Amino acid sequence: MRAFGKPTTAPELIESAAPEPGPGQVLVALEAAPINPSDLLLIRGLYGHRPTLPAALGTEGVGRIVAVGPAVDPVRIGERVLIVPTLKHGTWQDQIAIDQDDAIVVDPAADVLHVAMLGVNPLTADLLLRRFVDLPPGAWIGQTGGNSAVGRYVITLAKLAGYRTLNVVRRPEVAAELLELGADAVIVSGPDLGEQSKKALGDERISLLLDATAGEVVADLAPWLVHGGTLVSYGGMSGAPVVIRPGDLIFRDLHVRGFWQKGWLDTAPRAEFAAAYARLAALAAEGALRVPIAAAYPLEKYRDALVHATQADRVGKVLFAW
Ligand SMILES: NC(=O)c1ccc[n+]([C@@H]2O[C@H](COP(=O)([O-])OP(=O)(O)OC[C@H]3O[C@@H](n4cnc5c(N)ncnc54)[C@H](OP(=O)(O)O)[C@@H]3O)[C@@H](O)[C@H]2O)c1
Repeated sequence: MRAFGKPTTAPELIESAAPEPGPGQVLVALEAAPINPSDLLLIRGLYGHRPTLPAALGTEGVGRIVAVGPAVDPVRIGERVLIVPTLKHGTWQDQIAIDQDDAIVVDPAADVLHVAMLGVNPLTADLLLRRFVDLPPGAWIGQTGGNSAVGRYVITLAKLAGYRTLNVVRRPEVAAELLELGADAVIVSGPDLGEQSKKALGDERISLLLDATAGEVVADLAPWLVHGGTLVSYGGMSGAPVVIRPGDLIFRDLHVRGFWQKGWLDTAPRAEFAAAYARLAALAAEGALRVPIAAAYPLEKYRDALVHATQADRVGKVLFAW
């Protein structure tokens, strides 16, 4: 990409020489790489990270190591690896040379499209559940964007950990699918969200509120947080500000936090994120971490893929697959 702009027109596909892995690097031939909302924000120049232009695009993906640079054991050639989403490499390319520590081995038998999506959203869901609040068994987690990929991973991981989830969606037709996935309650954004929350929670309250959409829906859910409870903003899909009433902040001592996975990855010890990825990769290999897939496109059809990824009524993830 030479200039920030519309996701459907700013990127271009160019031919370049195959990269050479340098010292400590491996050459990865990509097999699959998703298009995430953050990639679309980055193309617009609105993301927390603005690359120097021209820039290669794509945050995460999976591929095979096809060559190694000096000081890397050639035994690694042939490994299927997840590319850690450091934003140092663009994964929408046939081959990329990356530091060997940024190439994490995954099960070659696992579904390649699902493994390609492990780097960003499942880790985000996992960290959102683990890093902010000490949750008692059976705690209620509230979330907006319940039908997003992160939302679905939250439902799965919360269920495995013994927590319950109250999920806000904007389309009632997805409720049955989320309940089948393990959601405890699904409610639909709208004027009666308070009533729906009351019906779902009874006398109980939410211990942790995870927000992917921002907007008025946050103000509607915040009263259902426990006194002193925590709201974590990690996405802004509605394009609106996070709305919260001062009374909830002041009289009920609510805490508002932000989360950005890149900020965490930049500072977390490698052993910690490698362990988290190993745990999540094992779940993916069992088929326990799955989200709907809308389509997989070859790189040459990148414009079709980007048009599809930006559609408001898209159901599931759009990926590139080689
Ligand atoms: N902070 C971090 O480190 C981090 C990491 C990962 C993801 N994220 C963020 O998390 C969010 C979800 O990402 P994802 O990859 O899981 O998303 P996704 O699977 O691509 O799904 C997007 C979701 O956004 C919903 N949505 C779209 N437009 C909306 C609107 N105007 N109002 C309300 N909801 C709307 C969609 O609702 P429908 O289901 O009804 O179509 C869908 O559930 C994004 O904002 C992403 O940037 C943040």
